[in-house]
Amino acid sequence: MPHPITPEISNLDQIADDQWQSLAAAAQDRHHAWHTPTLGNVGEGMAQLRTVVLRSADPETRILTCHTDSRSPKIVQLAKDPRFSWHFYDRDAKIQLRAYGRAWTHQGDALASQRWQDGAWRSAQCYRTPIAPGEVCTEDDLDIDAPVDPATGEEHFVVLACEIDTLDWLFLRVEGHRRARFLWMERGWQGEWIAP
Ligand SMILES: Cc1cc2nc3c(=O)[nH]c(=O)nc-3n(C[C@H](O)[C@H](O)[C@H](O)COP(=O)(O)O)c2cc1C
Repeated sequence: MPHPITPEISNLDQIADDQWQSLAAAAQDRHHAWHTPTLGNVGEGMAQLRTVVLRSADPETRILTCHTDSRSPKIVQLAKDPRFSWHFYDRDAKIQLRAYGRAWTHQGDALASQRWQDGAWRSAQCYRTPIAPGEVCTEDDLDIDAPVDPATGEEHFVVLACEIDTLDWLFLRVEGHRRARFLWMERGWQGEWIAP
């Protein structure tokens, strides 16, 4: 006899809401397992994956954001194909969440300026370098004690925002795995069980 689905995971609407609450919490808590997701896209003909810091997750707008350098390859690739994927895994909660959507950038606008003032400036060292991320450099180029112009950095700072329209939720548990897919359908998340 298969085990019945436990009440707390039998309600698909509740699962979608719970995941968004977890995402919002993860953005605020640097110790949360979902604080540093893997962000994926297609570039140069293959899957491009990298760790980023989740900076915000809004259940109402379904927008996830991270901060990056406008010169980084992912931003160059975004111009060609805006589809991005986010992979979250919480080992203790035994939950993998994948989120899919379309991305765009905020650079030099009100949101980017707000994020910079709210604390992104603390990472200014990353954005000040005259060498674009991914370019070949020397060890001297990486000398963080090298003098820098304190006014520089913000011009390369960009907020990558992604509106999520699909979620893939996987909950691993000894009683039997559970997996559900959610599509955004104008009025809300439409969920269905799928084979794990
Ligand atoms: C823990 C951790 C957090 C990171 N956070 C970010 C981030 O928030 N934004 C970012 O652009 N890169 C971040 N990186 C670096 C990226 O993984 C990646 O190396 C860089 O963005 C270049 O990616 P790209 O060549 O695909 O554009 C982080 C790396 C680690 C290990």
